[in-house]
Amino acid sequence: MLNALALGRRTKAGLLTLAALTFADASPASATESQEAKFNKILSQADTAYGEYLAGQCVTCHAPTGAAQGIPHIHGLPDVYLVQTLLEYKAGIEGRTNQAMVNIAKNLSEEEVGSLAKYFSEQTDNQ
Ligand code: HEC
Repeated sequence: MLNALALGRRTKAGLLTLAALTFADASPASATESQEAKFNKILSQADTAYGEYLAGQCVTCHAPTGAAQGIPHIHGLPDVYLVQTLLEYKAGIEGRTNQAMVNIAKNLSEEEVGSLAKYFSEQTDNQ
């Protein structure tokens, strides 16, 4: 899974592999493609400036440089991956049950999820 994650951060193919792995258990075979379409639709309505505004509540935990104290580094991650993970916390699926993130994500609309994903994906990856 860690290898898939590393790959997913570098290539679109790797990202699709990661999405396939993530949804393999819960969804029928066609779900990956429709999930991907849904993520891209959400991103097509995203607004970077709105994402930057909303990100103020995220960066108190997610520092721009590196991961710290169990909090992953999210700056510079692929936009589709960020939409996917935020929707997973919003749904509280297995493996995405961190209480802080579930509480935050469940109050985000899809427009907010997309805008946050777009904003963070455009930040420099300073890991
Ligand atoms: C109270 C601290 C805190 C705040 C505020 C917070 N996060 Fe998180 N976030 C975490 C922690 C801790 C994790 C790891 C949780 C886990 O292990 O599932 C995480 C995980 C994530 C992940 C998954 C990263 C990955 O690769 O698995 C994303 C994406 C994310 N947060 C985005 C956000 C966004 C966007 C916001 C603002 C709307 C936000 N977070 C606000 C603490 C926080």
